Amino acid sequence: MASAYLQARPGRALKGRIRAPGDKSISHRALILGAMAKGLTTVEGLLEGDDVLRTAAAMRAFGAGVEQTGPGRWRIEGRGGFVEPEDVVDCGNAGTGARLIMGAAAGFALNASFTGDASLRRRPMMRVLNPLGQMGARWICRTSGRLPLSLQGGGLQGIAYRLPEPSAQVKSAVLLAGLHAEGPTEVIEPEATRDHTERMLRAFGARVDVTDQDGERIIRLEPGQALTGCAIEVPGDPSSAAFPLVAALITPGSEVTVEGVLLNPLRIGLFQTLLEMDADLAITNAREAGGERVGDVTARFSALKGVVVPADRAPSMIDEYPILAVAAAFAEGPTRMLGLGELIVKESDRLALTSAGLAACGVGVGVEREAAEMTVVGAARGNHPVRGGASITTHGDHRIAMAHLVLGLAAQSAVRVDEPGMIATSFPGFVDLMTGLGAEIEAA
Ligand code: S3P
Repeated sequence: MASAYLQARPGRALKGRIRAPGDKSISHRALILGAMAKGLTTVEGLLEGDDVLRTAAAMRAFGAGVEQTGPGRWRIEGRGGFVEPEDVVDCGNAGTGARLIMGAAAGFALNASFTGDASLRRRPMMRVLNPLGQMGARWICRTSGRLPLSLQGGGLQGIAYRLPEPSAQVKSAVLLAGLHAEGPTEVIEPEATRDHTERMLRAFGARVDVTDQDGERIIRLEPGQALTGCAIEVPGDPSSAAFPLVAALITPGSEVTVEGVLLNPLRIGLFQTLLEMDADLAITNAREAGGERVGDVTARFSALKGVVVPADRAPSMIDEYPILAVAAAFAEGPTRMLGLGELIVKESDRLALTSAGLAACGVGVGVEREAAEMTVVGAARGNHPVRGGASITTHGDHRIAMAHLVLGLAAQSAVRVDEPGMIATSFPGFVDLMTGLGAEIEAA
């Protein structure tokens, strides 16, 4: 039986080169667009975490042929449209899977019911149901827009939709629905979010026009465009690479390289912030792969300093705040993070759990929930070490678990986390990769 806890102990320096698992956002999209397209799509480097495997199963349920042909290698036989699934589609822990698949399914004349695990059933779905409803889809859901829900698609009209919150998932849901709507679909983004859907739609042969108007990004999709299967190479996930890289920055004597990391400008807010904190972070071998910029990222142990992280950077590092907060705990002086409203609606309330976890480990941390701000007071001032020595309740959140394990590697005493099995939703092999670098992480 899997252990109920994992524990990370302070120990040796971390050394070595690893490959991050495939990017989660791109992996979901490769499966969904491959299933919507006509013909064969091949994928290399797919993230084989639980979230993405749920999306693979969902695409089979909607009629596509989806099979693994080797480690990270997949073939998707798209039928150019979805059929009605015979059973409820269970998206597990994956908000991206659930929201993008709902958008894709809404374009077809079918009924589909969706559910997810306890975390996903607590997360807000009105943010996608509202625009899909405006386009003509019908739905019924639990009170306040929670899963399980049923969606009836087909007969959609394109809309112009200004995103009320900076969410690539909502943008993507509207664009995928727009593929099968009548008339053009426009999404207006006051703040730019990750653009993998736009890039991948182009790779599948769709025309997507992106313009900037008065500081807003306008994404326009003409209707009636058929997607054609293609070959996708999935780069390493910067959101996963963040854990070994920050571990190296805070553990004395460390030097770690993560190879083939996605360096899309809309995903690298954490690296930008760490550089401002004086991190010794270097990018080598920068290149283009599969229409995205990738490179090898090396982190060496660094004397970090606290900074202010502006609110407008949040969309480019939204999943990285728990691990940034850990880096900040080892810096000199306070780090103030602004614009964290979206952290509350992730796999857990990450604003609450990050601050509670750090406080339990003896770190000075303050949260202003109304203003959606968090300040972490770095222990390096006056050379106070980070105490650690806590048992963290993760509420099943993979990134909360990994962030606190990384903290435990550089603290005075061990940190343990519950529900460690959830780490496999985004980073299967996390423990093996980290222990391969010299980290002391074990079942407890
Ligand atoms: C994702 C978008 C982000 C991010 C999530 C992946 C995506 O969510 O937190 O892990 O693949 O589009 P939001 O769109 O809700 O900000």
